Amino acid sequence: MVKILITSGPTRQYLDPVRYISNASSGRMGAALATAALQLGHEVVIVSGPVPTVYPAGARVISVVTTDDMLAASQEWFTECDGAIGVAAPCDYMPQIVETEKIAKTGEPLTLQLIETPDVVATLGQTKRDDQWVVGFALETNDRRFRATVKLEKKHCDMIISNGPIAMDSDVNDVELLDTAGEVIARVKGTKQKVADVLMTEIDRRLIRKTPA
Ligand code: C5P
Repeated sequence: MVKILITSGPTRQYLDPVRYISNASSGRMGAALATAALQLGHEVVIVSGPVPTVYPAGARVISVVTTDDMLAASQEWFTECDGAIGVAAPCDYMPQIVETEKIAKTGEPLTLQLIETPDVVATLGQTKRDDQWVVGFALETNDRRFRATVKLEKKHCDMIISNGPIAMDSDVNDVELLDTAGEVIARVKGTKQKVADVLMTEIDRRLIRKTPA
C-alpha cells in the first residue's frame, strides 16, 4: 500500500469579493482515480478546488480555492506521499489586483491585468525525491501526443495522460497514457471510471510495483 496525492477540480481566482475566473472542471476524473486507487488498497489524499462532485468516503479531502492554495496544500501533503497524480485544472492566470470592494459598472470597457499562477504539477515534479513519482494530465485539442510529451518533460513527470476537450465536465474520456520516452503504453476510451481503472492499474504496475513491462 502506498499513499497517493491527487489534485482535482478547478481553482478560482477572485477579481473582487463576489466575482471569479474559473473553468468547467468537475472533479469527476479525480474522484474516479481516487476510487480506483482505494480499490487497489492505496491511501488517497485529494487536494481539490470547489466541485459539486462527491469524493469517495475512503479518501482524505483537502479543500482549496486558488491555485496558490492548491500549490501550498499539495506541497505540504506530498512530503508524506509516494506519488502524485495532477488531474486538477488549476487557473493558469490570476488578476494582478484583487479589489476589496465589488467592481462597479462605469459604462466603459474594463481591462483586467492577469499574471501567471504557479504550476502545481511542475513544482511537485521539480522537487520530488528519488523515491517519489508524479503523473500529469494534458488536455489538448490538436497535436495531442506531441504536446503532451513536451509537457511531460517540462513538468518532470514520470508519465502523462493526454486527453481531449471531451474530458471537461463530462462522464466520459478518451485518453492515451505516455511514458517518459513518449511511447503510448495504454489507450482507453469510455466512462471516467473505466478510464481511471485502466490508468491506475498501469500506474500501480509501472510506478508503484515497478514491474518490468
Ligand atoms: O499546461 P497544462 O495546464 O495543459 O498542464 C496540465 C497539467 O498540469 C495537469 O496535470 C494539471 O493538473 C497541471 N497544472 C498544474 N498547475 C497549473 C496548471 C496545470 O498543476 N497551474
